[in-house]
Amino acid sequence: MMADQVIHKGLEGVVVSTNALTYIDGHAGKLMYRGYLIGDLAEQSTYEEVVWLLLHGELPNQRELAALKAELVANRTIPEHLLTLLKLLPADTNAMAALRTAVSMLALSDLESEDNSEAANRRKALRLVAKMATVVAAFERIRNGKEPVLPRPDLSHAANFLYMLNGEVPKETMARVFDVCLILHADHEMNASTFAARVTASTLSDIYSAVTAAIGTLKGPLHGGANTKVMEMLLEIQDPDNAEHWIKEALANKQRIMGFGHRVYKTEDPRATVLRRLSRELGEKQDSTRWYKISRTVEQEVLAQKGLYPNVDFYSASTYYLMGIRTDLYTPIFALARIAGWVANLLEQYADNRLIRPDSEYIGPKERPYVPVNQRN
Ligand code: ACO
Repeated sequence: MMADQVIHKGLEGVVVSTNALTYIDGHAGKLMYRGYLIGDLAEQSTYEEVVWLLLHGELPNQRELAALKAELVANRTIPEHLLTLLKLLPADTNAMAALRTAVSMLALSDLESEDNSEAANRRKALRLVAKMATVVAAFERIRNGKEPVLPRPDLSHAANFLYMLNGEVPKETMARVFDVCLILHADHEMNASTFAARVTASTLSDIYSAVTAAIGTLKGPLHGGANTKVMEMLLEIQDPDNAEHWIKEALANKQRIMGFGHRVYKTEDPRATVLRRLSRELGEKQDSTRWYKISRTVEQEVLAQKGLYPNVDFYSASTYYLMGIRTDLYTPIFALARIAGWVANLLEQYADNRLIRPDSEYIGPKERPYVPVNQRN
């Protein structure tokens, strides 16, 4: 690139494509999937409906929804050799690394993995939505020395995941809370993991490779990995009475507070609004408002001192904790929700592809003569 060109570090403000999936107004705190407000979807929709919406552009009618559910159910099981792989993983394997490896392995048993036609990609998209939930649940069971639980065809995607995770059918209210969490995480415009997926697809590589790249990108603490870090922080604070002092000290030490700030939102992330309510309601129901109280104090201090608002990762942490989910599964759960958005974005990318290949300004040494090894100091 020419030396006088502007460098957009972090690609902030750079528009790399169009998308017909998700709209964000970061100043108004507005988020819509295909024109539907996230608050309305969280209130009235289901994850299955949102999957259809993202993949097809419209909400499904009853027949379409029934067909989608049947296809997801039919694809829920994972191959035996993948279960064997999960059993062979070292005990302390990072949960996102396990998911990344498992998704890569899923490609090996998909006869259509190298078929990049739209029809094959749509089939693979649903396989990924269905199977990633099973992978995460099986990983959790196996590392706890338990047998994986076979999926149940009569349960929704959300209820079935909790069933496979815990070995018992969840209460309806729990399944609904989890369903809402899945809806809230399903897509989010050109976030880092979606961009990584699109970059991979732009080389005309396959959908599994693109999703594997996305999982690796989501894993980082500046992106999806933040939800686990949030819970670690809340656990360290432990008591609502410690919260103000803890956070003041952290900010004085210039610590980055996980679950706050966002590249796009300059006001409250509308997903955080819903999750704050879920976290409070679950806490009240379980007579365990400690995490909500700590979170509120942290939120107030970070806003007062830094002008930063909570993002999707902040209140999802205490919500999952109250659901009894182990902290390092929060990011894999983010992934098994976001898979809907990733595959919808990939379909868009393949349909109107151009290789994504930006520039970089060279700042290394100027041209110089080669020195043979015996003449070097
Ligand atoms: N805690 C403390 N300070 C922060 C935080 C935070 N969470 N977020 C931003 N800042 C400060 C930075 O220190 C910086 O200050 P400076 O200009 O004085 O150096 C300023 O705000 C701008 O921060 P950047 O990192 O340049 O903003 P960017 O848009 O690149 O980063 C990001 C956005 C990565 C989300 C950032 O806010 C952050 O690190 N947050 C914590 C991690 C997190 O919660 N990530 C999840 C995001 S949502 C998601 O991906 C699903």
